[in-house]
Amino acid sequence: MDYRVLDIDKKLMQEAIKARENAYAPISNFRVGAAILTESDEIIVGANVEISSFSPTSCAERNAIFSYFSGGGRHFTKIAICGDDDNTFPCGVCRQVIYELSPEAIVFIVNEDSSYKVFNIRELLPNGFRYEL
Ligand code: THU
Repeated sequence: MDYRVLDIDKKLMQEAIKARENAYAPISNFRVGAAILTESDEIIVGANVEISSFSPTSCAERNAIFSYFSGGGRHFTKIAICGDDDNTFPCGVCRQVIYELSPEAIVFIVNEDSSYKVFNIRELLPNGFRYEL
């Protein structure tokens, strides 16, 4: 999408790269970091956490978003994601979570070398399901 990147976006992307260091991924060894930008320009980070019975494993994106919501936050506008592979895109479940909680969210897919791609969540989850809350 056509988007002019701001200084705060660059900071958000750097925080996602840094957050990846906190990943607990003993099973896949694939680390992911995420950082969300809140309505008050606060940055909240998350990293993936893996559990050996698999289903409790939690993605970086959801850890960041749920940390924010469970602290009482409700509005975030942007999310940056950095995985161990170049161009690590959010999984389908995380796309649904992002869309449902921030239907206009801007998504930055960031690489270790700070290169990035920008999307609107609607591009990543076309015709997504959502109740009008
Ligand atoms: N993972 C994320 O944290 N975010 C994604 O969007 C893709 C996958 C994690 C889950 C698991 O710990 C590891 O990456 C390998 O799938």
